[in-house]
Amino acid sequence: MQHESMKIPYSAVHPGTEATEIFFYNDCKDVFETLKKGREVLAYDGSFLRTEEIRRVYVTDTNVAALPQVHQFLESIPDSSVSIVLDAGEEAKTFENVLKIVTKAIDAGMTRTSVFTGIGGGVITDMTAMAASLFKRGAGLELVPTTLLAMVDASIGGKTGCDFQNYKNMIGTFYPASRIFMATEFLQFLPEKEYKSGLAEVVKMAMLYAPKLFMILSEQKDAVDRRDPETLMDMVLRSSRSKAAVVERDLMESGERKQLNLGHTFGHALETCAGLGVVTHGDAVAWGCARAMELSCRLGLTEDDSWKNDVFALLERYGWCTEPQHPALSALKLSREETAARLLAAMKNDKKNKDKNICCILQREMNSTVIQDVKDEDILAVLA
Ligand SMILES: NC(=O)c1ccc[n+]([C@@H]2O[C@H](COP(=O)([O-])OP(=O)(O)OC[C@H]3O[C@@H](n4cnc5c(N)ncnc54)[C@H](O)[C@@H]3O)[C@@H](O)[C@H]2O)c1
Repeated sequence: MQHESMKIPYSAVHPGTEATEIFFYNDCKDVFETLKKGREVLAYDGSFLRTEEIRRVYVTDTNVAALPQVHQFLESIPDSSVSIVLDAGEEAKTFENVLKIVTKAIDAGMTRTSVFTGIGGGVITDMTAMAASLFKRGAGLELVPTTLLAMVDASIGGKTGCDFQNYKNMIGTFYPASRIFMATEFLQFLPEKEYKSGLAEVVKMAMLYAPKLFMILSEQKDAVDRRDPETLMDMVLRSSRSKAAVVERDLMESGERKQLNLGHTFGHALETCAGLGVVTHGDAVAWGCARAMELSCRLGLTEDDSWKNDVFALLERYGWCTEPQHPALSALKLSREETAARLLAAMKNDKKNKDKNICCILQREMNSTVIQDVKDEDILAVLA
């Protein structure tokens, strides 16, 4: 016989992660100036404010640490803070590296009030955030994203993680940063391949939520390509506002946040079938957005082909593939039908699927998105 039941309500995330403040700067030096500042604390009797030094664990990778601005900054950090420089790239996104960050914090005698500060692309921000969430059950977390993808996507929204046993982001937590500092100047140093890869996520955000951003991408391609500082700021502001609004409404991805996977179900399948690293994540997402639009039309979600045509025109202007079969797949030396079947099998493995049906993010038009399970035959039809 049950005596009684009891329900204990909790706030969704760890204390100290209730809100994220995002600061936008043009210049890297302004970010570093802010990081040097202490925090204002109230005395125990509540009578006055004093400034307390913040002890930080800086985390970055070899490429970012080699940027003169970052190098100079890390050389100047006070003895009470420490830094750790990890190898660059997705191969370094390992649990071992997350533990290295934690070990650095332990060895330096950090506490829960210390602040883990990741300076880098999505690999560094994801791993720093994971380490912060695990250290003593949660320490401070602030992020300085330095790639376009990390600015518009990875640093915002509290998903942390690392890859494990060949699975991307297999281990992780939800742990939003309390402050994010973005300086668009960082994007001037980014290799073209990385810039273009982040740009695909900007296109996705524009399709989902931001008509003005779509217009900027369409009409100001020259400024986008030459990384005009004003245009960069405009793109970063508009994309991060959109992402921030979605994660504010649905942090734990129980509904609306799934829309952010537009282009990713197809894109991940392409990355898997072509072999990891053969196509960039951005190339795959852009191609995936085209396939999602083709599927939306096939399923009769759109009134006509005009929105699909607008998306295709934009993707093609930036040199992304909109064909059913991406050129990277020709190396498989399979027939079109066999290639499509291979992609379908990869899509079925996607961890976002709840059961055997493939959950797709589709669109009626810009700003009007549908999350729907789709039959295999319809998916195969847009891949062959
Ligand atoms: N947490 C999330 O919600 C979320 C969302 C999207 C992606 N991600 C993750 O983000 C990761 C990809 O992020 P990424 O594309 O930023 O990759 P990345 O972190 O590997 O950075 C790309 C490359 O650019 C270099 N780099 C970074 N900033 C630079 C700069 N300013 N100048 C010159 N070089 C620079 C890096 O050293 C690296 O070689 C993936 O692991 C993905 O899973 C996470």
